[in-house]
Amino acid sequence: MPLRLHLFLLLFFLLSLTNCAHESHSSRLDHLQSSLHQDNHEDTMLPKISPIGAPQPFLPLLAPSPLAPFTNTSIPKLSGLCVLNFTAAESLMSMTAIDCWEVFAPFLANVICCPQLEATLMILVGHSSKHTNVLALNGTTARHCLSDVEQILMGQGASANLRQICSVRTSNLTEASCPVKNVDEFHDMVDTSKLLTACEKVDPVKECCYQVCQNAILEAATTIASKGSDLMGMDALHLQTEHSSRINDCRSIVLRWVASKLEPFQAKKVLRGLSNCHANKVCPLVFPDMKHVAKGCGDGISNKTACCHEMESYVSHLQKQSFITNLQALDCADTLAAKLKRSNITEDVYSLCHISLKDFSLQVGNQAAGCLLPSLPSDATFDSTSGISFLCDLNDNIPAPWPSTSQSTTSSCNKSVNIPALPAAASGQNCLYSHNVLFFLFVAVSFLLMIIT
Ligand SMILES: *[C@@H]1O[C@H](CO)[C@@H](O)[C@H](O)[C@H]1NC(C)=O
Ligand SMILES: *[C@@H]1O[C@H](CO)[C@@H](O)[C@H](O)[C@H]1NC(C)=O
Ligand SMILES: *[C@@H]1O[C@H](CO)[C@@H](O)[C@H](O)[C@H]1NC(C)=O
Ligand SMILES: *[C@@H]1O[C@H](CO)[C@@H](O)[C@H](O)[C@H]1NC(C)=O
Ligand SMILES: *[C@@H]1O[C@H](CO)[C@@H](O)[C@H](O)[C@H]1NC(C)=O
Ligand SMILES: *[C@@H]1O[C@H](CO)[C@@H](O)[C@H](O)[C@H]1NC(C)=O
Ligand SMILES: *[C@@H]1O[C@H](CO)[C@@H](O)[C@H](O)[C@H]1NC(C)=O
Repeated sequence: MPLRLHLFLLLFFLLSLTNCAHESHSSRLDHLQSSLHQDNHEDTMLPKISPIGAPQPFLPLLAPSPLAPFTNTSIPKLSGLCVLNFTAAESLMSMTAIDCWEVFAPFLANVICCPQLEATLMILVGHSSKHTNVLALNGTTARHCLSDVEQILMGQGASANLRQICSVRTSNLTEASCPVKNVDEFHDMVDTSKLLTACEKVDPVKECCYQVCQNAILEAATTIASKGSDLMGMDALHLQTEHSSRINDCRSIVLRWVASKLEPFQAKKVLRGLSNCHANKVCPLVFPDMKHVAKGCGDGISNKTACCHEMESYVSHLQKQSFITNLQALDCADTLAAKLKRSNITEDVYSLCHISLKDFSLQVGNQAAGCLLPSLPSDATFDSTSGISFLCDLNDNIPAPWPSTSQSTTSSCNKSVNIPALPAAASGQNCLYSHNVLFFLFVAVSFLLMIIT
């Protein structure tokens, strides 16, 4: 197995070198605009260089062809007791299986795999409501369906641990604490035409900014959550937490209703757009204790070498966690800076130690290359020759900004608008990107060796 991987690596290296000279002006739009890439083998390897100096995403190849036998191996053992129509969402489920492919699922969980799984579950239940008139499954059916979904996805190569990785429970298919699940009742309480107008199409950038659909969903969720008055006897604090978790559960009901009104792929686009807005607002990384950095950078950074050594070591722990988007990386840089300031480190240690945004995303070994996902990450794709791939934002050599006290933090709205305009790496150096593409193969190989050995 490792031998075949290395052979593929070599082949790939040759291809990427021969291809990096031409193709340098193909438009990035093909890549940005289609979330489902149908590229042939060679195209997926080519870095797309933008003529306008905007971000240059490319498709790193993450799973070489010898992996093909690892996908699609088992025939799912279905319960026969689930009422969901899996046929109607077949291609959506294949896409989910690839997004949650076993090796990468934990590293893509936050922005690709789990949002896609969540959208799939909502669409499945939403569509079943057209026959059942109910926007939720009961507990027993939910248990069978959840297990069936897992079996189907695993059968297509998805991780066997999705329940843990994405914290899926039967409540993701039931009404949980939402008091409304019946479609007729939903129509009676909610201004459905207003809701559908706001949510049938979601512009993934503008929505994060103006929250048109999100506000409509919140309004509808709050409305149906207010049904009944069994919250009366509770004290204020209890009431508030109870109420907000109820609104949250009703949010799922609302989203399922929206999904039931749209074609599966349109619904997927809407739901993923909404989860992206949410994901990009939060740094998903866990920050370990900073005492070594505080010590190394103490005394007004009296010893730059010691300070940067500690910083690098600290950041290298962050890098092992997850692939993150460029906007999340900005959030992470803000969060870390705030923590550093709390440890009395007020100087810009990012520029002092050359910390860049990509340093916050997953890297392997001590190679100075990583993958920042674009703010609107595409789905992973699979084809039998090139394996699993997904888009990275190559425009990731941006120094991590040290938040200045004078300038208020930019809203995520403004960030998502601004990020595509961040300075691009010198556009003449297209071969550099091939080098990066190659790096990702090393990442893939390292992961595989981790798994195989
Ligand atoms: C999985 O198997 C089915 C039928 O067995 C086939 O049609 C499909 O193309 C396979 N998918 C992959 C990703 O190999
Ligand atoms: C499931 O969906 C497919 C495709 O939309 C449809 O042809 C089929 O009749 C549905 N099956 C059931 C049991 O509703
Ligand atoms: C399941 O529901 C929980 C609680 O609402 C939520 O945190 C989680 O993201 C959901 N997962 C999926 C895959 O829907
Ligand atoms: C749950 O739903 C299924 C399918 O709609 C139904 O057959 C079953 O009787 C329900 N179970 C309970 C406990 O309501
Ligand atoms: C700075 O720190 C480094 C590494 O900890 C150490 O080797 C060096 O002696 C220190 N320099 C000064 C001037 O203290
Ligand atoms: C930060 O500096 C202040 C004032 O010099 C001091 O009181 C505080 O203990 C320091 N905090 C830390 C975490 O070192
Ligand atoms: C975006 O930033 C500009 C100033 O740079 C500000 O006037 C505007 O209100 C911001 N927009 C949002 C939605 O925060």
